[in-house]
Amino acid sequence: MLASRAVGGHPGLLSTLRSATCRPAHSRARGPRSLPCRSMSVSVPAFEFVSAGRIVFGRGEALRRVPKAAKELGATSVLIVVGSSPTRAQPFADALQALGIATCFFSIGGAGEPTLDTAEAGLAAAKACNADLVISIGGGSAVDTGKAIAALRTQPEGLLAYMEVVGQGKPLVNRPVPFIAVPTTAGTGAEVTKNSVFDSPQANVKASIRSDWMVPTLAVVDPELTLGVPADVTAATGLDALTQCLEPYVCCAPNPMTDCLALEGLRRAARSLRRAYVDGGDVGAREDMCVASLFGGLSLANAKLGAVHGFAGPLGGMLHGPHGALCAAMLPAAMAVNVEALQAGGPACEPALQRFHTVAQVLTGRADATAQDGVAWIRDICAELRIPGLKAYGMTAERVPEAILKAGKSSSMKGNPVALSEQQMARILTLSM
Ligand SMILES: [Fe+2]
Repeated sequence: MLASRAVGGHPGLLSTLRSATCRPAHSRARGPRSLPCRSMSVSVPAFEFVSAGRIVFGRGEALRRVPKAAKELGATSVLIVVGSSPTRAQPFADALQALGIATCFFSIGGAGEPTLDTAEAGLAAAKACNADLVISIGGGSAVDTGKAIAALRTQPEGLLAYMEVVGQGKPLVNRPVPFIAVPTTAGTGAEVTKNSVFDSPQANVKASIRSDWMVPTLAVVDPELTLGVPADVTAATGLDALTQCLEPYVCCAPNPMTDCLALEGLRRAARSLRRAYVDGGDVGAREDMCVASLFGGLSLANAKLGAVHGFAGPLGGMLHGPHGALCAAMLPAAMAVNVEALQAGGPACEPALQRFHTVAQVLTGRADATAQDGVAWIRDICAELRIPGLKAYGMTAERVPEAILKAGKSSSMKGNPVALSEQQMARILTLSM
């Protein structure tokens, strides 16, 4: 038994600090019932932790810190990358100009996820204004786009040379120009990750440009910037943040640092997501969701993910739906199928199942909660937050085999605590329609 079942915060946490490479457990364990489980080692593994160069968190901190940081970084011309509401960034431009720093804007627009063309257009804008610093003020899409522009600004080749899957996947040659991330939604945690995801409508896939050098120079997480997020976006992005804490905690390769962050993020999301959805002006709830998002980003960047994100990548490319909404639609079924698979998996699956018990205890606040109670809690909140099923984004039964084929190859799916069969993956999609 790896973990204490007692909860209320992080009881038993120190005893749960286990990690592993993601070998199938059958390489060590006996008996067919333990076949599907991926192994978790019993000692603390070697691990490393990548994050933004500096993280600043707090209400009202963005406008106080960002212009000053730009000056300290020696910026002379800044490209400000924004989403659908560029006016929100105007005070930042005014403050930068008051410090003698030139500014120009690039808007990724409000329609759909950013594409390869979006990033290329942003790079052209950065060149046109000779930007030596990039600042993103917006949701995950704006942050991802700005992060990629900062990286590409110093490379000898264009985006496709460095893109995984749809491009050549070359390593970056030069360090990016400095990049400051200022998220205005609480969801992706992209302000502390080292990759940018883009949709390739031609190839119907989503893919990343990725490098340790791409972690932002500075991440400023200011909960006040999330106050105006509409309820449906709060729901989808909030459940993405919650999933990005849950999946790294139960994945096959957690580490002691991601465990702490993931459980604390889960605890805050559990107590505040409903409040943020019902009353968008509840600053305390927004603050908790920003912590959950930040900690989810830190966790996923340093552990692994699981089935929800394993499907969300391919489905994002196939359906072009918002990432958070797709994750939210699949979370209840993915959790239910995982728990069933672990319960049927015998002793080798017990450590992973124990982690789902701990998740349930954190979500419900009940020390006696089991993994099944956690599944019920997730189902209930998705119903309350009116999360649409995958059909709303164009998913059909005919596309299930294609999604399974693509998801099976994704790195996120390989982090799932149990290797799911095609039937189990199909069940997740069917139940999520
Ligand atoms: Fe996500």
